[in-house]
Amino acid sequence: MEHLISIDDVTPEEVDEIIERATVYKMIRQDAISWSFVQRASMISHMNKLLISVFYAPSTRTRFSFEAAMSYLGGHVIGTENAAEFSSVKKGESIADNFRVISGFGDVIVGRFRNEGDARIAADASLVPVINGGDGMGEHPSQALIDYYTIRTALPEMPSWITFVGDNRRSRTVKSLCRLLTSCTRINEIVFVSPPGLEPDPEFIEELEFEQVSVSICTDIREEMLLETTPVVYVTRSQNECSDNQFDGSQYAFTPDLLKRLNPNAIIMHPLPRNSELPVEIDADPRAKYFEQARNGLFVRMALLEKICS
Ligand code: CP
Repeated sequence: MEHLISIDDVTPEEVDEIIERATVYKMIRQDAISWSFVQRASMISHMNKLLISVFYAPSTRTRFSFEAAMSYLGGHVIGTENAAEFSSVKKGESIADNFRVISGFGDVIVGRFRNEGDARIAADASLVPVINGGDGMGEHPSQALIDYYTIRTALPEMPSWITFVGDNRRSRTVKSLCRLLTSCTRINEIVFVSPPGLEPDPEFIEELEFEQVSVSICTDIREEMLLETTPVVYVTRSQNECSDNQFDGSQYAFTPDLLKRLNPNAIIMHPLPRNSELPVEIDADPRAKYFEQARNGLFVRMALLEKICS
């Protein structure tokens, strides 16, 4: 893996390696393994590497967890949380020139981009590996690794199907996770629940069907015993910043009354941030895994940085 721009840049074997290392890092961070044992067994990398974080669009989880991950690995971090304002892109510099120059100062760059395709432009210009921390409606591959890790650790076995509720048209996390699941698991059915206008693009459905995945589309999660049977409900907010079409997430909200009907063994996921589509009343339910999912970002990104810098 040179760059991580699309989840297709990682092989299933590399995904497994990252998941295994993330498990070790989670145990270390949760003190399930003592530091002295870890150091004796050389279980943790001490990387004298510099991560540069270049975010042209807002982020909480991605930026902080990547920066924390490199710090815990013993590396260093520089960057800006608002590259659109505080880099020379503000003065008209292209993304390609920006990355060509910045890449001369560090060992790996994580970037967030307003427009789909800009992450690939940045990677093509860069002298060091680039990790796409989200590019418009494109992809968010490290989030897919986190989501996969969360499903694998929260459920006794990988499910053969999954239900996505929300903005299935513009959500980059949905795209990257679907692609990862089709390449790394035996998933054979994906259900998309969205209001009209937020269904996945026909081209994306074709792509999944080409991979032998059965795709169903509906407008209400109360339909067809979905709630009672689905092993995973993955909710997304309406990505209104990505286009002029504005949608209110409350029209497909996962409200507390749905919990009563939800499969008792299911998990509820969300890449966060959330809006009205995921009321806070859901948080206390043991099936709600989204804060654990966010925290897993640290361990998975430690494993990813170690892999991509090696
Ligand atoms: N899930 C995610 O990408 O969150 P941020 O936008 O806060 O980074």
